[in-house]
Amino acid sequence: MAFEKNILCIGAGYVGGPTMAMIAHKCPQYRVTIVDINPKRIAEWNSNNLPIYEPGLDEIVKVVRGRNLFFNTEIEREIKEADIIFVSVNTPTKTFGAGAGMAADLQYWEKTARQIREASQSHKIIVEKSTLPVKTALAMERILTSTASGIHFDILSNPEFLAEGTGIRDLETPDRVLIGSRETPEGLKARDELVEIYANWVPRKLIITSNIWSSELSKLVSNAFLAQRISSINSISSLCEKTEADITEVARAVGMDSRVGNKFLNASIGFGGSCFKKDILNLVYLCRHYGLDEVADYWEGVVRINDYQKERFILNMLSAMFNTLAGKKICLFGFAFKANTGDTRESPAISVSRRLIEERAEVVITDPRALINAETDLADIKEKITFIEDPYKAAAGCDAIAVMTEWDIYTGLDFEKIYESMRNPAFVFDGRNILDHSSLFKIGFNVFPVGKSPLTHF
Ligand code: NAD
Ligand code: UGA
Repeated sequence: MAFEKNILCIGAGYVGGPTMAMIAHKCPQYRVTIVDINPKRIAEWNSNNLPIYEPGLDEIVKVVRGRNLFFNTEIEREIKEADIIFVSVNTPTKTFGAGAGMAADLQYWEKTARQIREASQSHKIIVEKSTLPVKTALAMERILTSTASGIHFDILSNPEFLAEGTGIRDLETPDRVLIGSRETPEGLKARDELVEIYANWVPRKLIITSNIWSSELSKLVSNAFLAQRISSINSISSLCEKTEADITEVARAVGMDSRVGNKFLNASIGFGGSCFKKDILNLVYLCRHYGLDEVADYWEGVVRINDYQKERFILNMLSAMFNTLAGKKICLFGFAFKANTGDTRESPAISVSRRLIEERAEVVITDPRALINAETDLADIKEKITFIEDPYKAAAGCDAIAVMTEWDIYTGLDFEKIYESMRNPAFVFDGRNILDHSSLFKIGFNVFPVGKSPLTHF
């Protein structure tokens, strides 16, 4: 069958894989190919054991793979054949040189731009799918037009707003799709081409367009606003713990104001995930670069409160358990940075595990999807930690359970059975406020939620 368009995505990760699977699923008339420099990842995408866990993804990939969705490592060949190239490579925080710990590391991005320039023989539309500092498209344009080949490239910004765990739903029924372009006739034409792709399944009124810089910046600001809500509610959770106010009741009262809204107001052990921290730090770096120190300080506060919340959790454990954790066995319920994903990047459970080991506690970790990643994240202290998939076996013989991830399975466990198998006095530190605290207390646990008065037998 002849396809109408050849769409290529460079980067077969958490964004590239699901977004392209959705395009292939909704648009059988296009040939969609995903390439990556990592052959192991590509082999996994071509297997029955996909490299990422995302509810609904397996089903879609099974239908479209080999039909109009293809995975391979032939980057150069695929660039040549593509009409539209989405670039979805990783853009982590820089760990070296100027801006280390703050700025985005654009080395993978730039390498891709050079590869596109070298391999291209005809006009192409390049779509920024990765999250990038505002003005990156300018650098991309300069790299792509820095040879005398005469090939024209149009660069668009089309940031991705999916959240892990709900990625397929977010892609299928997005709140909005944002496309930024240059406001030249060529830029607008390229923008319209991309609009037509999404219009195959997204209502046109939800496909919004803007200038390219607004689009790049909107992605950073969107993540900053979401993270800011979590830090706001988490900051108030500490005040609740001092005043007998209850964070769930406060969040409900505040969130029922339609101007505020009730989403993203769950107090927690802190936000994790590969993007919130990196994107806010990137925003902070940009503000400092432009001499906007007050603005930078404001946003940096969101990350500072998140670090404070994680440390506060450990200090609460320490003080509740008679100021020593040495030799005590603590079971972490969950390791993924949120439920319904195996992703552990920047998971609060990583720093909690490390802090517990520093306090000389024994750590047992259980998680239905993230144990392999957990072992990798904690490789340097792996011998001090036990990894067990069954939560009953993991909790047996422990002094405390600390809930790190809001997996549904934890709410349905038989806590009487768990209590019987634990040491006394037994503690639950609910870093997600998902358990039934009063029934745990009745069973005999000493219960420490986030942002609520503890329930103790002492
Ligand atoms: P990821 O690390 O899962 O995937 C990136 C992939 O790019 C990797 O497989 C890597 O091998 C590949 N890659 C790197 N350089 C390459 C090159 N030169 N050629 C070919 N492949 C190359 O990252 P991710 O989570 O998919 O994130 C990608 C981008 O999307 C980031 O900018 C991130 O901020 C943004 N984003 C992520 C999410 C999310 O939920 N993870 C959501 C929205 C936006
Ligand atoms: C987030 C955004 O929600 C996406 O829109 C964005 O595309 C993505 O980042 C990205 O750019 O990578 P994600 O990190 O996958 O998505 O997941 P979220 O649901 O946003 O959760 C992030 C963290 O905040 C998790 O650790 C979660 O447990 C925590 N969280 C979330 C809370 O602690 N409280 C809440 O009320 C909500």
